[in-house]
Amino acid sequence: MKIPPLIIGDVKATVPVVQGAMGVRISKAGLAAAVAKEGGIGTVASVCIGPIETSSRAEFAQLNKKTLVEEIRKAKSLSNNGIIAVNIMVALSDYISLVEGSIEGGADIIVSGAGLPLMLPSYTKNSNIKLVPIVSSGRAAKIICEKWIRTYNKLPDAFVVEGILAGGHLGFTFEELENPENHPLEKITIDVINAVKEYENKHNKKIPVIPAGGIFDGKDIAKMIALGAGGVQMATRFVCTHECDADIKFKQAYIDAKEEDITIIKSPVHMPGRVIRNEFVKNVVEGDRIKFECSYRCLKNCIPMEVPYCIAKVLINAANGNLKDGFAFVGQNAHRCTQITSVKELMDELVADTEKHLK
Ligand SMILES: Cc1cc2nc3c(=O)[nH]c(=O)nc-3n(C[C@H](O)[C@H](O)[C@H](O)COP(=O)(O)O)c2cc1C
Repeated sequence: MKIPPLIIGDVKATVPVVQGAMGVRISKAGLAAAVAKEGGIGTVASVCIGPIETSSRAEFAQLNKKTLVEEIRKAKSLSNNGIIAVNIMVALSDYISLVEGSIEGGADIIVSGAGLPLMLPSYTKNSNIKLVPIVSSGRAAKIICEKWIRTYNKLPDAFVVEGILAGGHLGFTFEELENPENHPLEKITIDVINAVKEYENKHNKKIPVIPAGGIFDGKDIAKMIALGAGGVQMATRFVCTHECDADIKFKQAYIDAKEEDITIIKSPVHMPGRVIRNEFVKNVVEGDRIKFECSYRCLKNCIPMEVPYCIAKVLINAANGNLKDGFAFVGQNAHRCTQITSVKELMDELVADTEKHLK
């Protein structure tokens, strides 16, 4: 059976694969454009995409927005006007400014998680940009639908459902992460599909549900489509592509990682995060503190005086290939990546493999 398109309002991706955002600076215009060019949806991660060595929070926010606008325009141009999304975490201090930058740059979609984006529609008035919250439960999806309908007479255009095997910061507790098998992505996806059905019927609007976290091949994609998902979001697999914006050493860390190297840490912002274990991780887990100056204050709830190290700096080091002073965020299935390919090869493989498994 032919792979179905992913339709989000009047935006139609011929390949129902969203390349998940990867901050800091792992998914910028290069990767997003390559995915969009192949018919998928490319996502630029907005977190600290601009310089952080600035004199003030205001200057940081201004340069971050400027860089985001440039990256969106570059991605649009490189992909011949493919579909470009921007990921903006609710936890970011320059959230509103990045929403404005997404519209100014001409992005098609804003994807927003790491907190519930309850106020998002208030910042996008008079714009046709599609709004896609990230949730980890049907309950969270329902809270957003209720709030948006009541306050803005609007519903999300789609939902990303992030499961327990995803990369980066995770919306699960440490206890839940000890037994991931108790929280299969299929179950959470069905929970969200059921939660949004009521709103779809009542308001005569299609709200595709897009699961993410541990989806690796066409068999996984076909399974999600059969469950009723509108498409899937994948991040880890896109790291091991030539077009990924990270340094080759970051990509090589994925290729070299064994299953037992992939671990959960408590990030300085108190959330669990999945990373590849290395010497740096070992040292910070054991309590090492790395002094830093912070004028940028990128996260709303980070208190620089109290955290053991700056998560932004550590992730920037990793993206630049300096894994001595940083770590790589990673999805649970990264150990299955064995080679670096082109985005085209990966997308072609995913489409063919999905079509083979679709009944
Ligand atoms: C290196 C890395 C960085 C990530 N950064 C972000 C981010 O900035 N914002 C976000 O919402 N999700 C982020 N994620 C999560 C992904 O967008 C995606 O939803 C998830 O990793 C999907 O699972 P997979 O990696 O198993 O495909 C990140 C994931 C990775 C691997």
